[in-house]
Amino acid sequence: MKSQTEFVWVPEASNIAREAGERLREFLLAGVETEYKGEVDLVTVADRTVEKLILTRLSETFPNHGIYGEEGTRERLDQEFRWYVDPLDGTTNFAHGVPQFCVSMGLEQRPSHIAAGHDGELVAAVIYDPMRDEMYSAERGRGAVLNGKPIHVSRIPELAESLVATGFPSRKRHDNPNIHFYHEFTLRSHGVRRGGSAALDLAYIACGRYEGFWEFNLNPWDTAAGILLIEEAGGRITDFSGNPVRLDSREVLASNGLIHDELVSLFIDMFAGRDLSPIPTPAQFAARRAERAVNGK
Ligand code: IPD
Ligand code: CA
Ligand code: CA
Repeated sequence: MKSQTEFVWVPEASNIAREAGERLREFLLAGVETEYKGEVDLVTVADRTVEKLILTRLSETFPNHGIYGEEGTRERLDQEFRWYVDPLDGTTNFAHGVPQFCVSMGLEQRPSHIAAGHDGELVAAVIYDPMRDEMYSAERGRGAVLNGKPIHVSRIPELAESLVATGFPSRKRHDNPNIHFYHEFTLRSHGVRRGGSAALDLAYIACGRYEGFWEFNLNPWDTAAGILLIEEAGGRITDFSGNPVRLDSREVLASNGLIHDELVSLFIDMFAGRDLSPIPTPAQFAARRAERAVNGK
């Protein structure tokens, strides 16, 4: 493995992410108005302003690179290199003043012979948490670092001893079965965190804080940087069946590698309706409580 001192894109990309993160921090402290993008998706002036800032800085620094951003940037997408940018991952937290959000930027390389619709290779990743001043970065074959120090996934070998994380979409939650997975994982692990920033969840696996993460229906700007960080930190990231993850995968399952097969088997069992752990409904719980009161217990 080459050393991080040979990072090619990360030094400039992390300067851009830091500047973007500082803007987010200023917006948070100043307070911003929240708008709706569609029926329930929140967006703020910070999301848009910071995406524009990143577009300007990336274009100055890497004029031949393409940029694909959550808030609508589609620039030079036919280029060999393109950045997937989420200027503010964790908008709902941000809009409520919760200091858990980040800037996420992942770089894909697509040599000219690659067929349209096929992924290139993720080659660089930067995720910056401006509230904790934590800069996660990685390049393919050169390792992953947090504030310049090498990071590695945890060595916990089973789900029962793991802390895991997930997220829920802001839209169409009624079509999403994730609450059942949330329930089952809660019963089988040290707990499930729902932090509200998928990119930070992935970064937390890379640095050994969480053992696992899954989510339905993420987008490439949420995952591009996190995928590479996890791979370079020694973890695994696939779809729910254990197949290689793609940038347009609607299923993301990430882990420290050691618990990955266990997670995939649990997904297979759950999709087949096997081995689900029952819990009382609120009505059943209330009935038992009333019964205990009558019996004086
Ligand atoms: C969201 C966050 C959240 C995840 C949602 C994403 P946004 O991104 O990553 O954790 O659960 O699915 O949409 O909208 O804050 O950039
Ligand atoms: Ca996001
Ligand atoms: Ca976003």
